[in-house]
Amino acid sequence: MGFGHLGEGRLKNSSYESSQVDAQGARPLPTINHACVRNALWSGAFGSFAMNTDTREIWGKADPLTDINLKNLEGLEANNHRALIVHRQEIKKELLDYLGYSMMFDEAFPEIDPKERYTLQTGANAIAAYFRTIFTNQAPFQLWLKGNKDAMTEQQKRGAELFFGKAGCVNCHNSASLNGQRFAAVGVKDLDMNGYEVFKPMMAGLRVVPFYFKG
Ligand code: HEC
Repeated sequence: MGFGHLGEGRLKNSSYESSQVDAQGARPLPTINHACVRNALWSGAFGSFAMNTDTREIWGKADPLTDINLKNLEGLEANNHRALIVHRQEIKKELLDYLGYSMMFDEAFPEIDPKERYTLQTGANAIAAYFRTIFTNQAPFQLWLKGNKDAMTEQQKRGAELFFGKAGCVNCHNSASLNGQRFAAVGVKDLDMNGYEVFKPMMAGLRVVPFYFKG
């Protein structure tokens, strides 16, 4: 419960056991334009492609990430699968029947054997597919790129000129989604390194080490 830039205002809800606290040690990525991102999590640790290609030999042996990355998934699918486990979610037929979701799984995954159809992995795939629909494709800049010359104000156009010109933003922000498709050290500690109670017990032993950066 509560807030605080570094977690200092966060208190454990007294009705929970320590083991039930769901605090994450690192802030998640924004949910927009994920379709353009092949490696997920703050460190890029999820996903077997892009920067993680051919780095298997240095993936942690006993790391919970490794199992999921070994499935050859994109970052989004891997991240969502792991998140369902971390957040102790269950996906099984009886539950989906009860919630009215089974038919949707049948429609989405007809090619998957019913024995494998109602699982954390198909659930994760569905969530990832949903993420891929969240785009900033209605932003004035996007509409302008599509040919609507009135979509941007004069001030916005001057900003774009700066962004792609003198200010040099495009040197780093240069992919389809204007991120850099790379990871940078930003000098901010993970929340679990700050000593506040909510993050400490939860994250001990669950640390995600960015062990497979290439280069
Ligand atoms: C040297 C590389 C570099 C340059 C040049 C650069 N950025 Fe960034 N920018 C980054 C990185 C790295 C991040 C991610 C920082 C983080 O996650 O804390 C970022 C994040 C951002 C974000 C937040 C995006 C988000 O989804 O949270 C905005 C907005 C932004 N930059 C705008 C700009 C603008 C405007 C300029 C030009 C004036 C600029 N950047 C120049 C590297 C750069």
